[in-house]
Amino acid sequence: MDWGMKNRLARIIKPEDGRTVMLAVDHGYFLGPTSGLEQPRKTIEPLIPYADSIMLTRGVLRTSVDPGANVPVVLRVSGGTSILKELSNEDITVSIDDAIRLNVSAMALSIFVGSEFEKQTLVSLAKLVDEGEKHGIPVLAVTAVGKDMARDARYLGLSCRIAAELGAHIVKTYYCDGFEEVIESCPIPVIIAGGKKTPEIEALELAFNAVRTGAVGVDMGRNIFQSDSPVGMIRAVRAIVHEKASVADAYKIYESAKGAKARKAG
Ligand code: 5RP
Repeated sequence: MDWGMKNRLARIIKPEDGRTVMLAVDHGYFLGPTSGLEQPRKTIEPLIPYADSIMLTRGVLRTSVDPGANVPVVLRVSGGTSILKELSNEDITVSIDDAIRLNVSAMALSIFVGSEFEKQTLVSLAKLVDEGEKHGIPVLAVTAVGKDMARDARYLGLSCRIAAELGAHIVKTYYCDGFEEVIESCPIPVIIAGGKKTPEIEALELAFNAVRTGAVGVDMGRNIFQSDSPVGMIRAVRAIVHEKASVADAYKIYESAKGAKARKAG
């Protein structure tokens, strides 16, 4: 692996502890102005100081993040479909030239194993890895799950392993029962998505269990930006990922930030 690739990976997965908190705010690429991201800048700005990196599209990056913010960028480079259509019908939507111009630390693309467009998305991953390798830019494969697909260790393990075999440098998947099996059979670092908004304590338990069983961190979106205290939640998640905090201690961080926010408002 060349120096540039290693350097970019180190901007995402922190060498001090081998862990990462990635903030996912890319949802608009197929969901449009989804809840909590109606005005991306308003949501993203207060969270940046607590994120090791942010995952987003080039449109939101250019319009809603100051270049001086100096936060490592994981650029979503796949898309081309909306919630109204077959979601797996994705292609690469950003050129490598633009990714380089935007000085990204990694590029992210979804693969839809078992879906109608499985082959298209897997070949796109392989092509993106070729481009990434040429320029020293790591690729994050996102194991997207179709409506009818099980989120179990067998299926997620299959998706993660295929992503690794095709050359991805990091893979994002979902936490599931038997997550250790997913980790054991995947030779690249695994991070987990938060999934749909759940009560804060459950999202913290998810993060805790994921890192306990071998994930290097999270790429969490809705359970942070749709929380009643997004800053409280990302700080609580950070405590779990980087400081080995218990769920109870992390929850206290969230509650205290929520209380401070309420006092400020009142
Ligand atoms: C969408 C994505 C999201 O970034 C991912 O699902 C993480 O966000 P959340 O924690 O809200 O699930 O890749 O395809």
